[in-house]
Parts: sequence; C-alpha cells; structure tokens
Amino acid sequence: MRVRKRKGAEEHLANHPQYVILNPEDAKGKWYEVFGNNNPIHIEVGSGKGAFITGMALQNPHINYIGIDIQLSVLSYALDKVLESGATNVKLLRVDGSSLTNYFEDAEVDMMYLNFSDPWPKTKHEKRRLTYKTFLDTYKQILPEHGEIHFKTDNRGLFEYSLASFSQYGMTLKQVWLDLHASNYEGNVMTEYEAKFSSKGQVIYRVEAVFN
Ligand SMILES: C[S@@+](CC[C@H](N)C(=O)[O-])C[C@H]1O[C@@H](n2cnc3c(N)ncnc32)[C@H](O)[C@@H]1O
Repeated sequence: MRVRKRKGAEEHLANHPQYVILNPEDAKGKWYEVFGNNNPIHIEVGSGKGAFITGMALQNPHINYIGIDIQLSVLSYALDKVLESGATNVKLLRVDGSSLTNYFEDAEVDMMYLNFSDPWPKTKHEKRRLTYKTFLDTYKQILPEHGEIHFKTDNRGLFEYSLASFSQYGMTLKQVWLDLHASNYEGNVMTEYEAKFSSKGQVIYRVEAVFN
C-alpha cells in the first residue's frame, strides 16, 4: 500500500520524540529505558495508520507497543491516532522490517504482529513478503525462544503462502482461524484494512505461529 505524501509529515514526527523514536539504533538493548519500565514489548511490523497498535495499547496498559512502518506519511497518521488516544505505552518507528536486528537486541521483543501485510502476489516479489524466510530469520533473532507471530489478513493467497512459509521454517501453527469474525475469538482489535475489507464481506484469516 502506497499512501500519498503528506505535507509536513516529517516535521510532525520530529516534533513528537516522546512517541516517535528518531534514532532507534541508540535504543537497541535499552528499550526498557525508552519506555521507563520493564514491561513486555510487542511490535507490529507494517502498522499502517495505527488503529491496531493504539487499540492494543489502550486495551493492555501493562504491555509496551511499538508500531513499525517504512512509510513516513503513514507513520504520521499513526502518530495522530496515538496522540488522540492518549496512550502512553506506544512508540512508533520508521524503519524497514528487514533491518530489525539493528534496533533490537536478541530476544528483546516479546511477541510480534503482522496485519494485512502487502501480498506481493507475483512470484518474482516473494522476497518482499513479510512472511518470507529471510524476514522470519530476523524475527526469530529478536524474539525469545518459542516467540510468537500473530498474523491476520484478508488475502487468501498470502495466508496460504504464509502458513507454508511458517511450517517450512519449522514453526508450530498454534491456532488457525479461517473466519476470525465468525469465531469466538475475544478481544480482537481491528486494523484499518480489517475494518475496510470485512465491511465489504471479506473473510479475515488469522494464525498464531510459534518458533521452535
Ligand atoms: C496493506 S498496509 C496494512 C496496514 C495495517 N497493518 C492495516 O492492517 O491496516 C501494509 C503496511 O506495511 C508497510 N510495510 C510494507 N513493507 C514494509 C517493511 N518492509 N517494513 C515495514 N513496513 C512495511 C506499508 O508501508 C503499509 O503501511
């Protein structure tokens, strides 16, 4: 998803260093200092406009959340949501999900979310999918032993691909939902894409995958 450039986005982010971590390499191994506590850290890679990370932060005040997105304008909209919400347990990072080991020590992240990741349907773009094996190498390093990825999407092709990618990587599929909204799953926090696609009648898939 490409979002149109937002005027003043860079300045907006720079003006809120309490939420937007501008030199994240300095935070590596010291995220507990950034948050000022030792609460668990959960990240979302490709957090978009921030509805999920903000909703989760409000729902779980004893967890620290970090929303990560590569697009500056998108992150600036996420910042608006964080500011509106008043949540204090959420930070935002503008970095590429492939480079997370530059910003997190081994096992520094307690768990992670991928929501409605770009599907990159062409085989020649497989390496860009956030569930491709090189991304899994990165996630495995920053998560603890038996760390978990919770992944939601409306895209059946990406879901099938990701289930296979997790399995081929030796991960355990702890639970799979083929229609999340019709299930008895409690406490679901919707993302922007989830709200949009489910309102059009699309089924939402979800999986919890665990590294071994
Ligand atoms: C389709 S949008 C979904 C946004 C949000 N998770 C939702 O469900 O509404 C995918 C997001 O992932 C971000 N993204 C794509 N590749 C990324 C990468 N390598 N690292 C970080 N973010 C990435 C995009 O900028 C975009 O905001």
